[in-house]
Amino acid sequence: MAENERSGLDYAPGRNGASPTPIKDEAPTQTTAPPLPQPGGARYAQIVGWGYHVPSKVITNHDLEQIVDTSDEWIRTRTGIEERRVAADPNETTASLAAAAARKALDVADVHPSKVDLIICSTSSPEYIFPATASVVQDAIGAVNAGAFDLSAACSGFVYGLAMARGHILAGDAEYVLVIGAETLSRIVDWTDRNTCVLFGDGAGAVLVAASDVPGGIMATELGSDGSGADMLIVPAGGSAHPASLETVSNGSHFIKMEGKAVFRFAVRVMAEATTKALSRAGLTTDDVDLVIPHQANLRIVQNSVLRQLKIPEDRVFVNLQRYGNTSTASIPIALCEAIEAKKVKPGDNLVFVGFGGGLTWAACAVKWGVPTAAPEVGWWRSTRRQAGYQAAAARSMWRRAVRWMYDVWPADPEEAAAEDNETPKPEPTKQVSGSRNN
Ligand code: ACO
Repeated sequence: MAENERSGLDYAPGRNGASPTPIKDEAPTQTTAPPLPQPGGARYAQIVGWGYHVPSKVITNHDLEQIVDTSDEWIRTRTGIEERRVAADPNETTASLAAAAARKALDVADVHPSKVDLIICSTSSPEYIFPATASVVQDAIGAVNAGAFDLSAACSGFVYGLAMARGHILAGDAEYVLVIGAETLSRIVDWTDRNTCVLFGDGAGAVLVAASDVPGGIMATELGSDGSGADMLIVPAGGSAHPASLETVSNGSHFIKMEGKAVFRFAVRVMAEATTKALSRAGLTTDDVDLVIPHQANLRIVQNSVLRQLKIPEDRVFVNLQRYGNTSTASIPIALCEAIEAKKVKPGDNLVFVGFGGGLTWAACAVKWGVPTAAPEVGWWRSTRRQAGYQAAAARSMWRRAVRWMYDVWPADPEEAAAEDNETPKPEPTKQVSGSRNN
């Protein structure tokens, strides 16, 4: 088998002693989205573009040995992880990684950002509590006609996003939906807690889902949640239950907390169940599956669920967690892009994406792949024009901010200003507030 055709599981500790081939962070092979369906015709939701972006900083298991009481051997044998990417540059944020991945997905599909109707950004480490990271991405890529919202379903979020995209497209409400999974978990991980800091990594993956008359695409989804397990995987502080305060910061409750063993047991159970349900909704069985792309949390979870319970052979399961760790909701789209680069996906293939995570949540979907993964390159002119479009989006954003600023600081029309003054109620003298806010 050629190097780039090797199963992700071949990188497992102890297997062939294989050392992973570094994957270059470059734009995937270009292709072109198929034409949109005719009005009134059959509609399908096809993935027509894909891209990922990860920070350049690599932290190996050996690096972590210098930070916490752990060992490369423990991390490899318990999880399969060898290294992870970390957003070390403060300018690398969830939105910047997400926008970079989204641009690559649009490039692959050769679709202009102005054609995007909706941006769904799944993340557990958003740019802010609000506004949505998706809105920041919308501005950054110049998707001037898109609605945008964030989706919170932890590591299952990307598959939840695909389900939402499919719904919008099949309902006729959208032609193009960008679904992004993006995380900078390194910013909410406690780097003194060896139970969690060795597991997670940063990165983003995106797909462009398009309305199409080519049968297949996202065929069926299975979504689930069990909120009784909410505290098994949680960032306790920073929300309305425990707003950020000196106390929450000093006791570290703004960091990820996890009951690893319980999450492990839950994950093994739901991965198999969700896969079976999504496949049966699509009228398929495990024998029909060409490739499973599971959430990349722990190699042992994949082995116990997909390989042992579902009995899907390892050459039909894609794993790349060795190089990225658990990038939460970004893990499935990043793995999809690398599976495409490794020529493991071709038109007509039946794929399964399956994830689990905080919530607790789980999600699976069955996809019949509908577009070529190695179509002819898009001409230099279109590609240059699109790059110029991204520069124009940045300029437009600055211009809009400048116009708002000018409205704020420049003296308004005297008549308008006088009218505003008359409408503005005069502030009441400040009253003394007695007692604490808990009274
Ligand atoms: N290095 C060395 N020793 C460690 C480390 C470490 N990094 N972490 C824990 N240990 C120790 C423990 O303290 C324990 O020691 P003890 O026996 O003296 O108490 C011992 O190793 C075994 O610990 P376990 O928790 O039993 O280890 P386990 O084999 O269960 O592996 C792990 C732990 C890797 C966390 C596993 O339970 C797991 O992967 N769980 C699922 C986690 C997951 O996938 N979470 C993400 C969900 S997705 C999302 O929404 C973000």
